[in-house]
Amino acid sequence: MRILTGIQASGRPHLGNILGAIRPAIKLSKNPANESFLFIADLHTLTSLKDGKQLRENTYAIAAAWLACGFDADKNFFYRQSKLAGYHTELMWYLNCFTPFPMLANATSFKDKSEKLGDVNAGLFTYPVLQAADIMLYDAQIVPVGKDQRQHLEMTRDLGGAFNRQYGEDTLVLPEAKIDEAVMTIPGIDGLKMSKSLNNYIDIFLDEKELLKVVKKVVTDAKTLEDVKNPDEDNVFKLYSLVANSKEIEEMRANYLAGGYGYGHAKNALHAVLVREFKEEREKFEYYMNHIPELEQKLQEGEAKAEVIAKSTIQRIRKKMNLDD
Ligand code: TYM
Repeated sequence: MRILTGIQASGRPHLGNILGAIRPAIKLSKNPANESFLFIADLHTLTSLKDGKQLRENTYAIAAAWLACGFDADKNFFYRQSKLAGYHTELMWYLNCFTPFPMLANATSFKDKSEKLGDVNAGLFTYPVLQAADIMLYDAQIVPVGKDQRQHLEMTRDLGGAFNRQYGEDTLVLPEAKIDEAVMTIPGIDGLKMSKSLNNYIDIFLDEKELLKVVKKVVTDAKTLEDVKNPDEDNVFKLYSLVANSKEIEEMRANYLAGGYGYGHAKNALHAVLVREFKEEREKFEYYMNHIPELEQKLQEGEAKAEVIAKSTIQRIRKKMNLDD
């Protein structure tokens, strides 16, 4: 199977990105029957971030996170979208010409973003079409993502279907989203969906002290240490349940229900489990961020490999479209 997924370069990846997309994608990539395309969606990021230097720094951070979380870039495909921009945007244009205006105008992600942002640009509007091109350019079959991407995957299939009706059913491969129930919406420190734009995210690559400061900000109700607490309504417990092992989760549940266990205790336990569970990832992340030329080399090798596939898909599509002699 061909697996593909991307992460925007809007900052360092947070716990939501890691549990919702990075880990599930890497797990699939370990299956020798799969070929994985994991990339950095830096062209998408331009819709909101214009500073090239910042964009490049973020791009390295995402690349470092993919590798730190165990992605084997040598056996798979690992690249920056911007380095293959010619292919991505060419397919995007073809798909644009099959995209009904209302499909984009009614897209949830566009409505959400355009309400929040001052800069509502055309890139933001056509964002899902570039995403559809990212996916179908590599004939991806499975796209592991968080729940917020479900609609983009449906749009990808719709656009691919419309394109194939015009040019033949074997022109584009229609992908399936793979959305893992347990991690499809990771909550942030305020209980809303964890996201960069809401500034409610946990960056697991922070140093231990800084990480503790963030964990201490997890919003709870005002119950005192003695009070009995409901674990199922508490953000600290919800986050802990995503990272701790089942014995630890049951212990914390019992502590909440018994009383005499404060949110401060729970926050310290959450911090400890984050540091423990992401020990290797944190070390490797630090390593790659201090060895940028190594990252750069892996990306360039990945980009050369990805280009072969992108080029051949574009040739196939142009032929189907009868664009060339
Ligand atoms: P981005 O960068 O916003 O998020 C990257 C991935 O992380 C998932 N995610 C979450 N999952 C669970 N809980 C959360 N709180 C959470 N926050 C983020 C997202 O669902 C996503 O899977 N449009 C994409 C980038 C992209 C892409 C693609 C993805 C561009 N082209 C092609 C797949 C295929 C995005 O904005 O991701």
